[in-house]
Amino acid sequence: PKVTYVDYAGNAQEVDVPVGENVMHGALYHGVEGIVGECGGGLSCATCHCYIDDAWTQKVGGPSSDIEAELLEAAAAEVKPTSRLSCQIEMTDALDGLVVHMPESQY
Ligand code: FES
Repeated sequence: PKVTYVDYAGNAQEVDVPVGENVMHGALYHGVEGIVGECGGGLSCATCHCYIDDAWTQKVGGPSSDIEAELLEAAAAEVKPTSRLSCQIEMTDALDGLVVHMPESQY
């Protein structure tokens, strides 16, 4: 399944992210800049913050969990209703075509 990562300037990069892999790793493994993922997906850094495209917010499971929301408070960029930690989104075939927007900075 494909994920399109859109950076703050509006540049889009589409990459193939295997089922079962998370959206943060998908970016890292393909050299997509804009997602850092400092804690390696351990739900403790908030540097994998992204905004889910409006068309996809429900498909990725709606808003973040409580733990995720708490951690998002530590995110450097503005937190919006569509904010998610990309390491907590696991790819499925149903998410083929997913579009995520990256914040200006993760620090
Ligand atoms: Fe650290 Fe997602 S990579 S919280």
